[in-house]
Amino acid sequence: MIGLLFAGCSDKKAPQKEVSLKLDEEKSEWFKEAKFGMFIHWGLYSILEGSYNGHTMPDTSFANGNSWYAEWIKPRLEVPDDVYNALANQFNPVNYDPESWVREAKNAGMKYLVITSKHHDGFALWDSEVSDFDIMNTPYGKDLIAPLVEACKKYGLKYGFYYSHWQDWEDPDGALPRWCEWRDDEAFERYWQRKSLPQVRELIEKFDPDLLWFDTWDWKTHITPERRDELIRLVRTYSDKCLINGRICYENPGDNIDFLEMHDNSYPKEMLSKPWQTPATMQNSWAYHGKDFNWKPASRMLRYLVNNTSMGGNYLLNVGPKADGTLPAPAVRRLREMGAWLDVNGEAVFGSEPSGLTMPEGVYSTRKVTPEGKNLYIFLTRPMTSVTVPAVLSGECKVVETGQPVEMTVEGEKTVISLPENLFKDDSIIVLKCRS
Ligand code: GLC
Repeated sequence: MIGLLFAGCSDKKAPQKEVSLKLDEEKSEWFKEAKFGMFIHWGLYSILEGSYNGHTMPDTSFANGNSWYAEWIKPRLEVPDDVYNALANQFNPVNYDPESWVREAKNAGMKYLVITSKHHDGFALWDSEVSDFDIMNTPYGKDLIAPLVEACKKYGLKYGFYYSHWQDWEDPDGALPRWCEWRDDEAFERYWQRKSLPQVRELIEKFDPDLLWFDTWDWKTHITPERRDELIRLVRTYSDKCLINGRICYENPGDNIDFLEMHDNSYPKEMLSKPWQTPATMQNSWAYHGKDFNWKPASRMLRYLVNNTSMGGNYLLNVGPKADGTLPAPAVRRLREMGAWLDVNGEAVFGSEPSGLTMPEGVYSTRKVTPEGKNLYIFLTRPMTSVTVPAVLSGECKVVETGQPVEMTVEGEKTVISLPENLFKDDSIIVLKCRS
């Protein structure tokens, strides 16, 4: 019997030869073209919705309670280990309908999805053979990742997993927040070999993800360049397509990662050397927080998307589902508004490239060659009477949504586009399409 069990395990794909740590650049082409993705923070913390024992995050009566991030509730509001881990006995997302999530993402214009397969609390949303702290030991008792992957395949979205490779607050040897005990290297190595690396391998073997999203954000972590490379090697060994983000090693991501990850909610004003994305929240929190009413308007989030598109980067916008598996209504409304705008104006985003032109404040641009010719798209995010473009535009220029023509005059090396007042009747971004 035991022999048979082992025979079963050894069936897994074994590394044949030394792999290259670098993936061909063309494998990240889809990512560069995707522009817009959905981030999902979901786990045991979703049950608490940012509040515990009469306290709500942020709460400065706790030494480290000053944060909105509801997925951090355990260490920040000092929830005891046993109380927190026992949330597994309550987790029962009976209204989970992964196809409805994927449909919302797709209708919003998103091309990929990244879910927290395991956040810092150490809890795995899939059926993990490596750890019992997983979805199988909940009243729900069914893998949450497998049906989501199926839904992504059905609707043609790429998919990836956030995996907390460094912090793990449940494992006796996993890294803890910086104000807690520092795990010595020997202890961390045990966690690394026993849980972190095997779970990453498991995620790849079971689900074949398009990307892995690792998370370090401190100068001092246990993820040395050696461990970083060990993890990259593992990913490359078991997948020939899986992209890896720069947060795998904050101190030094090295040359072998596939895309750079910006700080949370941070928007660069320049082009970067590698593909990149901004992970961004809709509320202040990532995980659902029932008392965080700081929902960003869809118009502002579209500006971030357009800013990033014009700089060659992606926008990974988060939703925090509730513990029962439903998406919060404010998130759904915003996704639909963004999708409606992209339905009309998406030609300026998808398939486009940065124009390389320096535009006035509040104006962004992309370019795209179509069978009709060369197009410059200009995004106007605030009312203005005219916009001066540092290029000679000789073809026609019109508003994408309505087809309304706009006048332009070439002045030397520049073109001045006159904007009618009736363009700015609401706060949505106006897109102009100009032939050059
Ligand atoms: C930070 C937070 C983490 C969140 C991540 C998303 O690293 O600590 O909770 O998942 O940002 O970008």
